[in-house]
Amino acid sequence: METILNVKNVSKTYQGAGQTLTVLNDVNFSVEAGSTLSVVGPSGSGKTTLLGLCAGLDRSSKGSVELNNIRLDQLSEDERAQVRNRYVGFIFQNFQLLPTLTALENVMVPLELRGEKNVRARSMSLLDKVGLNNRMHHYPAQLSGGEQQRVSLARAFANSPRILFADEPTGNLDVETSDKVIKLLFELNQEAGTTLIIVTHNLELASQTKRIIKIKGGHLVADELN
Ligand SMILES: Nc1ncnc2c1ncn2[C@@H]1O[C@H](COP(=O)(O)OP(=O)(O)O)[C@@H](O)[C@H]1O
Ligand SMILES: [Mg+2]
Repeated sequence: METILNVKNVSKTYQGAGQTLTVLNDVNFSVEAGSTLSVVGPSGSGKTTLLGLCAGLDRSSKGSVELNNIRLDQLSEDERAQVRNRYVGFIFQNFQLLPTLTALENVMVPLELRGEKNVRARSMSLLDKVGLNNRMHHYPAQLSGGEQQRVSLARAFANSPRILFADEPTGNLDVETSDKVIKLLFELNQEAGTTLIIVTHNLELASQTKRIIKIKGGHLVADELN
């Protein structure tokens, strides 16, 4: 089995007001390519921080993070941005779409950054897949939360990422919309063979992944197969 993500002895600290705040403390785990994993734990336990380190959005204070055999902790900000654009998709709780771009343009951006061909047609087909063929030219502010999250799903999958991180993807959605988004997430995941790592408080969502790890007070305290 191929390892897509390897987190070794990772700690993250912040300096503030004369003291050191340890947010993650010696975290270890690795993830098989193509598998699905939930990260659960109380609010403030370090889940978002961990995801950010794994996705190359941020850098660990100690330890190593290897994504697709690339040591993220040794790369500069620009180099990490390149790795993200090539291999990583990210879905945020608050969607983080660019407000001045339409749904279609939001999906096109990562593809254009990669210099891909047929960007417009591919983006349209992705939006069609998430059920938004009649919303392509709307701006984020003109879309409901569920619709915005479906745009961000289309955007995240546009690059055919090897690994997709989703940070409480249904946290701002009602139950019905949340079920739709979850279904799409797993469908797109299966189709593309993408590794899926989801931070969630939604137990139904967590129960659909093959494995669950639990973070508490910056420590990995449980690692179980479903
Ligand atoms: N940039 C930062 N500077 C200082 N403390 C931070 C920073 N980012 C997060 N933290 C702290 O790290 C802890 C974990 O945060 P987070 O990873 O967002 O937790 P979770 O996602 O599990 O709710 C919190 O106590 C938070 O206040
Ligand atoms: Mg969080």
